[in-house]
Amino acid sequence: MIELKKIQSVFNEKILNINSKENLQNLKTEFFGKNGLITVQFKTLGSLNVNDRKEFASKLNKLKENLTNQIETKSYDLESKEINKKLKDEQIDITLPIRPHQNGKIHPVSQVIDEISSIFSEIGFEVAEGPDVETEYNNFTALNTPEDHPARDMHDTFYLEENKKILLRTHTSPVQIRTMLNGKPPFKIIVPGRTYRCDSDQTHAPMFHQLEGLYIDENITMSHLKGCLSYFVKEFFEVKNIKMRFRPSHFPFTEPSAEVDIGYSLENGKIKIGEGDKWLEILGCGMVHPNVLKNVKVNSNKYQGYAFGMGIDRLAMLKYGINDLRSFFETDYRWLNHFGFDPLDVPTNYRGLSK
Ligand code: PHE
Repeated sequence: MIELKKIQSVFNEKILNINSKENLQNLKTEFFGKNGLITVQFKTLGSLNVNDRKEFASKLNKLKENLTNQIETKSYDLESKEINKKLKDEQIDITLPIRPHQNGKIHPVSQVIDEISSIFSEIGFEVAEGPDVETEYNNFTALNTPEDHPARDMHDTFYLEENKKILLRTHTSPVQIRTMLNGKPPFKIIVPGRTYRCDSDQTHAPMFHQLEGLYIDENITMSHLKGCLSYFVKEFFEVKNIKMRFRPSHFPFTEPSAEVDIGYSLENGKIKIGEGDKWLEILGCGMVHPNVLKNVKVNSNKYQGYAFGMGIDRLAMLKYGINDLRSFFETDYRWLNHFGFDPLDVPTNYRGLSK
């Protein structure tokens, strides 16, 4: 019995000085380890007679419980001390003022990508991405564009290998293939990204940006496509009424296919989007071709849907009155200062996209 009291007082003294998890662990081993002070006492039980054993076991168990509780309380204390210290160390004073003259602006292309993502996320589209370097299969073949199809030349592809298997993607459509191969329908995505074609003049750059859209589900029709695009152009150009027309067109990966024009007028040499008797092409679209769905193992009897692809740079030029596409990529700081956006103004639908 004297032994137990002694153990208790040694323990009480020791635990007072514990100030780290490591020390606590050592203390635990000292008392409850293989040859721990408590463990050793339990080992003596066998040599006692029945009555003594009962009494000693009961005292020993009480002591064990007491010490275990103390260890747990200590462990909890150390833990909360650690958390409080971490919180204190990582504290940021959000009342500090920002630098009064911030440098740096958001490029109009990044701004427009943020605006478009915000508009489409409001109606349930998720943002997907894919690599700029693509296989010929994803860029053309899986998209129902056969070997000798003129679209392969039409796109003036940058091939990266002699055997034409690897290329710089000519559009964002290969991400349709990647997404559908890696998941199960329904699919509802937009894909902003860089695209490349061997082309350069005032309205064409060898690298430019596209935004792909894909919506595959049961019972998706061309009228959903029309509704979605009409919502998009109104939100994007921030005007209530926009004339829009669908012209029949051709893409190997959609059937039927269409190109979409929006109405505009010229006022004092400036483009005014919405009304007027002039038309401007802004995107290509259509119902995803059953062959494409077959290539990605989606049952086209059950699922169908639409896809569209638009030029982001073109939309940025129209919305923000920028005349030369090449100026986007000249990295002229004066230009960026003039056309760029405040980095703290993230576009959202409810706060206004471009204000
Ligand atoms: N990928 C086509 C292009 O680059 C655009 C498009 C996308 C058309 C999706 C239809 C459907 O011109």
